[in-house]
Amino acid sequence: MGVRGERAVQIAPSILAADFSRLGEQVAESLRAGARRIHIDVMDGHFVPNITMGPLVVEALRPLAQRFDAIMEVHLMIEAPDRFLAEFSRAGANAMTVHLEACPHLHRTVHNIRALNAQPGVALNPATPLVMLDDILPEIDVALLMSVDPGFGGQQFIVATTEKVARLRAILRARGLDRIEIEVDGGVGEGNIAELARAGMTIAVAGTSVFNQRRSVTESIRVLQTACAAVA
Ligand code: DX5
Ligand code: ZN
Repeated sequence: MGVRGERAVQIAPSILAADFSRLGEQVAESLRAGARRIHIDVMDGHFVPNITMGPLVVEALRPLAQRFDAIMEVHLMIEAPDRFLAEFSRAGANAMTVHLEACPHLHRTVHNIRALNAQPGVALNPATPLVMLDDILPEIDVALLMSVDPGFGGQQFIVATTEKVARLRAILRARGLDRIEIEVDGGVGEGNIAELARAGMTIAVAGTSVFNQRRSVTESIRVLQTACAAVA
């Protein structure tokens, strides 16, 4: 098991890269392979230049996730996400991550997520500095650092993210907030997952490195887990 101190690195398969004609099957395979956090990318064509899925998909996957006691996290790449939090919660989302860049009243949004009994997360685009998280950190469970500009799967990892993860982990330690998960999203795969884990990442979003033509979902997850296991 990959560890950072006492903590295992969780692989969160991003279903954006899955074969949607076999979505249930593919998610089931990832759960059987040990995934316990399903990453669901919600895009609105405004905050990002793409449109993807909404609460219907979360609802459809809910029985499967419940069977494995897995978390369903929605990554809300949408303007004014407050409008949809209750609906995603009803559909079964138990972790909700909003973009700092889309939330003028972030403190309220985070509290709205907590009030729905979901884990609140805040995401930063690659060009948004860590300092923007300073005041909200004590209120959140997950800090998601984008390692690509959001909108599409299969993009190239922005290398500077690794150092950003290390800086954030140092800040969390210094402030007694080490419980907060650092999640990295975009271009994460066998080539960089170990280094990210060493820097302090605890959740790795994996789209095309889990759902691809090269290997089965099971094998892909094993490869990522093995790469993390090498981290001392
Ligand atoms: C990008 C999404 C990611 C995406 C990651 O905007 O937020 O979750 O699915 O896909 P990969 O792992 O292929 O970069
Ligand atoms: Zn995502």
